[in-house]
Amino acid sequence: MDDDVAKTWADARNKIDRLRDGALVKIEALGKSDDLEKTRIEFLGKKSYIMGLIKLLGRLSAEERPEAGAKLNAIRTEIEVAIETKKKWLQHVEQDQILQNENFDISLPSRLLGKGHFHPVAEVMDDLIEIFVELGFMVEEGPEVETDEFNFKMLNFPDDHPARDMQDTFYIGNGTRLMRTHTSPVQIHAMKKYQPPMSVIAPGRVYRCDSDVTHSPVFHQLEGFYIDKNVNFGHLKGTLELFVRHLYGDGVEVRFRPSFFPFTEPSAEIDISCVLCHGGGCRVCKETGWLEILGAGMIDPNVLSVMDINPEKWTGFAFGLGIERIAMLKYGIDDIRLLYENNIGFLQQF
Ligand code: DAH
Repeated sequence: MDDDVAKTWADARNKIDRLRDGALVKIEALGKSDDLEKTRIEFLGKKSYIMGLIKLLGRLSAEERPEAGAKLNAIRTEIEVAIETKKKWLQHVEQDQILQNENFDISLPSRLLGKGHFHPVAEVMDDLIEIFVELGFMVEEGPEVETDEFNFKMLNFPDDHPARDMQDTFYIGNGTRLMRTHTSPVQIHAMKKYQPPMSVIAPGRVYRCDSDVTHSPVFHQLEGFYIDKNVNFGHLKGTLELFVRHLYGDGVEVRFRPSFFPFTEPSAEIDISCVLCHGGGCRVCKETGWLEILGAGMIDPNVLSVMDINPEKWTGFAFGLGIERIAMLKYGIDDIRLLYENNIGFLQQF
């Protein structure tokens, strides 16, 4: 048994409680994590007073050692816990300060991501479909690759009709197939599929070998037709007038002009008073005050007969319109190609 050691311990017994109290007060008062580590080294580091005493434990007498050991370990744990608790607290405080110094405003709205929307052609197409569906028409789609039979022959086009020229029609391969030049062949598909009475619209893409400011080689049409008993030209007029008013409002005037289509008899072209100059005359209506927007007529009895629909019993009207033309008039677009260039700046205007 070492006298010096016994003396040191006797001395320490009087001091360590105060030392511990001092350490706890100091830890409590600290304001920075860095200072906390320094304080830990001061009180619990290898060269600290407390660790020095712990090293001496082995040399204390067997009677004193358990009490001294328990005491020193309790003090060490108390200081360690105080340091850990303080450490967590300071981390919170420091994080808060960082956020405050960054002027981080959690109430600011987030950056807006660009939101997409429908293309003007799709938008107009959907509007038109909705109008006719409300009137009781059902929607049919047909193939874009057609035969001469469906695109022309069964629609009563004579063999030498100019629309069959290579000029207008995109033929495929050896010429037995073609890209449909209009949506009218869907009339034939529908008459094959359903028995009258029927009221059908057929929206879709059509193809023509033609390209300038008002013509695109690919464009969209909406076809419509109605077959029933006693359908007459008055029904056609009434339906289209209703449609035009839905689209352009009550102020618009509607005019029917005699025309010719192989699959309708009689045929008409429908004009509306110019939506830009209201009939006064402008560049868009070519100073006429009128805009042509539709082709229509009574379905030719030849077409009905070919489809085994008795023209003595059933009659019908049909119409077709170009979607791009309606969209151009609606938005005042003067070059159809703008609709297909995918220029985001242009499209974002709608
Ligand atoms: N198919 C014609 C075209 O593309 C438009 C048309 C005219 C459709 C008269 C019709 C109609 O249904 O009756 O030029």
